[in-house]
Amino acid sequence: MKITRELLLQVLEQNPIAECFRHCQLFQRHGRVYTCCCPFHSEKTPSCVIDSESCFFYCHGCGVGGDVITFTQITEKLSYEEAFAVLAEKIKNPQNPEYSDFHSVFSQKFIRNRCYAINRETANFYYWNLLHGNDRRGLNYFAQRRLSAGIVRKYGLGFAPDDWHQLRDFLRNKGFSDEELILSGVCRRSEKQPENLYDNFRNRVTFPILNTAGNIIGFGGRVLDDSKPKYLNTSETPVFDKSSNLFSLHFAQHVSSEMLILAEGYMDVIAMHQAGFENVVATLGTAITSQQARLIARYTRQVIIAYDSDNAGQNATEKALRHFEAIGLQARILRIENAKDPDEFLKKYGREKFRELLERAQDTVSFRISRCRNDLDLQTEQGKTIFLRRCVPILSHISNDSRRKNHIFRIAEDLEIDPGILDKQVIRTIQKETRISRKTKFQEIEKNFYVQNQNYKNNINKTGNYAESCRQYPQESKSEELLLACCMRFPEQAEMIFQALPPEFFVTDFHRKIYQAVRQCIWENAESNLKFMPSFLGADFEIQEISAVAGILAHCREMIFTPEVIQDCIANLENADTRSVNFLTMSDNDLQQIIMNKQKHIHWIN
Ligand code: UTP
Ligand code: MN
Repeated sequence: MKITRELLLQVLEQNPIAECFRHCQLFQRHGRVYTCCCPFHSEKTPSCVIDSESCFFYCHGCGVGGDVITFTQITEKLSYEEAFAVLAEKIKNPQNPEYSDFHSVFSQKFIRNRCYAINRETANFYYWNLLHGNDRRGLNYFAQRRLSAGIVRKYGLGFAPDDWHQLRDFLRNKGFSDEELILSGVCRRSEKQPENLYDNFRNRVTFPILNTAGNIIGFGGRVLDDSKPKYLNTSETPVFDKSSNLFSLHFAQHVSSEMLILAEGYMDVIAMHQAGFENVVATLGTAITSQQARLIARYTRQVIIAYDSDNAGQNATEKALRHFEAIGLQARILRIENAKDPDEFLKKYGREKFRELLERAQDTVSFRISRCRNDLDLQTEQGKTIFLRRCVPILSHISNDSRRKNHIFRIAEDLEIDPGILDKQVIRTIQKETRISRKTKFQEIEKNFYVQNQNYKNNINKTGNYAESCRQYPQESKSEELLLACCMRFPEQAEMIFQALPPEFFVTDFHRKIYQAVRQCIWENAESNLKFMPSFLGADFEIQEISAVAGILAHCREMIFTPEVIQDCIANLENADTRSVNFLTMSDNDLQQIIMNKQKHIHWIN
């Protein structure tokens, strides 16, 4: 399909962008602008703005944005051309019911909905089987694990019968095709006889996994005895990605703002939930990923890691800690004493003791220090020495002076040594590390500078790392943004800017790319007097890029572009000298001087 300007305008007009958001929380109209809670990330106050005049949306919270085509691309997982075709098709045949079926059978959304439906039927089947099937072992198992009937119902736990075909036949009867059963992961194809399907989960108790919207996206299944593998989990499907979801987050999302407990297993989560701690989640059979860490940070200010007390659990805790540190989420660590996991602890000691445990959860430094004691006899000189050697790097990473001193003091007291000695050692390490990190930072500058310089010289027209170059050239990229916003919002002023500033003067590759596209567009529209819309940028821009364009427009909504502001920005770019500083030949002193003076381009170093 050829995407003409005329067709594009028709598509935009017939598929108003605001309609896409009508179902969102707190959807509200303010003139030509609408606001609502963003459908692409979870939030309680609206940060999504929809500009119905310029036909775009932008979320100030998560930075996603674009036009109705972008929206369709994201929600239906389509390419630009496919999304456009879907929307164009709609305006051709708005009344034709055939059409919507035709289109939807091939759309990702339809496929996802079929998966949800299969999972829902499957969960019902397992649940029914648990409670009413002839085989009582599943129910006995949960009873033996001391789960109440209420919690079994609340979590929709179930039992997959010891049979190869019961679920398959049940779902076939409900009208699902074999392909759909395979796609959703509830059945598998026999390798020897590919026409034969068999049930994936058999003879296992089952744990449905829900997303935050409340759809069932997959299952975990546990054996009833000690056979292996202990747990099976749904593998990758159109609706299930084990690295970006968390078990029980659909419950925890409503109670987790102060703190959220991260456990290792399904059973731990359910046991804690039953004991009244509903702000608990677990990963889905894998180590925690950075995506999951970010997901947790979205719902809470503090996470308490409640992994198993064995060595594996403690190692996993350290890994999780690094993920949380990387995103600046405060973490504490639960020390489970005399039990292997929260589930066992609750059974042995009850909820009050568990609450005390939560209150006493360790900070990360204490956790790491106490791990240094492992396998050491602190009564011996050798034990003490090794212990101290292990502690020093941990202590040297505490940037807060008084916090560091406190820890040093406590360790010294414990070992009955002079805190001054330990302090000296730590300070020396800090100095050494500072030297090293300064050196690597310089090397980084050199490298980045070199790359930027090359890009600039060769005028390579690629996006590069947008965020990175904005950080590197904060002042210039701000000027670029303002000029772009001005061109897009007030095309009548744009010509003056185009005259004054050829694209080569743009410092960041990405802004230059937009500038060129916007200029082209405005020149093309000159006759027709059209306002600029992000949609005109079209297929050459990735979703992230369109989002950034929408962001520039949204950020500058209230901005007044006086001639002075514009002149300032132009001058800023004309004078931008991103090429004159040569880090390669500069002395350390000069470099230091530049950093001290906070000269442009390297503000970010401090
Ligand atoms: P655990 O073995 O600690 O499981 O594994 P658990 O939840 O405490 O279960 P119980 O108390 O022994 O019944 C922790 C998590 O690791 C994943 C599961 O998600 C489990 O909940 N796992 C474990 C697997 O995916 N496969 C396995 O074979 C074992
Ligand atoms: Mn466990």
